[in-house]
Amino acid sequence: MRYSIVSIVFLSFILSFVPVNKGFQIQKDDSLADIQQSLGMDFSDKKPNEGIKGVSARVGEDIVINGFSKRKGEKKARRQSKHFVCISCHNIEREDPNLAYQTPEARLTYIAEKGLPFLQGTTLYGAVNRETYYNGDYEKKYGDLVKPARQDIREAIQLCALECAQGRRLKDWELESVLAFLWEIDLKVRDIQLSQTEIESIEQAIDNSSLQNEALNLLSGKYSNASEATFLLPPDDRRIGVGLRGNPNNGKLIYENSCLYCHYQKKYSFLHLDNNKMSFNHLNNKAGTYNRHSIYQVIRYGTYSKYGKMSYMPQYTEERMSQQQLADLRAYISKRAHEM
Ligand code: HEC
Ligand code: HEC
Repeated sequence: MRYSIVSIVFLSFILSFVPVNKGFQIQKDDSLADIQQSLGMDFSDKKPNEGIKGVSARVGEDIVINGFSKRKGEKKARRQSKHFVCISCHNIEREDPNLAYQTPEARLTYIAEKGLPFLQGTTLYGAVNRETYYNGDYEKKYGDLVKPARQDIREAIQLCALECAQGRRLKDWELESVLAFLWEIDLKVRDIQLSQTEIESIEQAIDNSSLQNEALNLLSGKYSNASEATFLLPPDDRRIGVGLRGNPNNGKLIYENSCLYCHYQKKYSFLHLDNNKMSFNHLNNKAGTYNRHSIYQVIRYGTYSKYGKMSYMPQYTEERMSQQQLADLRAYISKRAHEM
């Protein structure tokens, strides 16, 4: 009896050193695109050209966050835009709890918990994993400019640099650097919901080409490969609003994570908004009118840049702020205007 226990312990000790070939193993920090590449998908068009002098993800990160970066050996760095930086309108972190089924309601709760803003542009996190850009109604806004940008992330970035950020085109080394940075914030395995069985079937497919298509389909169902965009009009009768009962608690999150992000202390705008009575009174008085300061007007149409005043407010699509959320914002503004 004693011997058999000793020998079992001894045997398992020895066995723990014998390498077992389990094939490919998926880790939660793995890049999703790397896995898809092992399954035969091709991302080479989207990968940055590191051969150009001065290209690096750090330079790209600088441009996205600060609006400029210096190339090694050069004295001056030129701002991409006088008015905005990329993170004025885009997060660079994940903003949806479920990437396969995204709603602005779920997003608002998620970003508020993480302390992120609630913005008009889709997060740049996972941008390289999407297949089309400026989807849906953005064609109405930018017309033919959208055509080259639809399938090509480089053109999408340039379109945004010129039209959204009201700045200049990026130089080659800047553009490739932004792309290198976007590849650092690509989707990881931990961002999508995979069961243990699904993980195993993908691991098997990596070693067995006849299973690859099925595994690729499985993966592509786990996240949305395009950020849809539907433009909405302001309500017909602004005094009534969108006709939904608003929840002021959600409205507070919108006010603080959207409006204040850009308007507090006139960060990006001439209009200062804060948590004082003046701001709420102003927005409350204008909401039901056809004035350009009506929340319905600015949220659904945005504002346009005029000569000599290039900064403008981008509109919120239905996917970025729902009608319900507009009602929630109105309810919050009205509550705050009346309680003080
Ligand atoms: C003033 C706001 C604003 C600024 C500044 C801005 N963007 Fe955008 N961007 C948008 C909006 C709005 C869209 C429309 C599509 C979307 O993101 O949902 C967009 C779209 C994009 C897209 C395509 C996303 C998609 O999935 O359709 C990319 C990529 C992008 N921007 C990159 C950038 C980069 C890089 C910068 C900085 C150089 C930048 N943007 C600056 C507002 C902005
Ligand atoms: C991405 C930044 C950004 C966000 C988010 C944002 N705004 Fe703006 N907003 C601007 C800019 C820029 C302007 C126009 C520039 C100016 O006139 O100073 C503007 C203009 C306005 C105006 C004046 C319109 C006009 O024609 O002069 C109002 C009112 C306004 N915003 C309200 C809001 C409210 C309410 C929210 C929250 C739902 C909000 N904004 C969110 C950037 C933003």
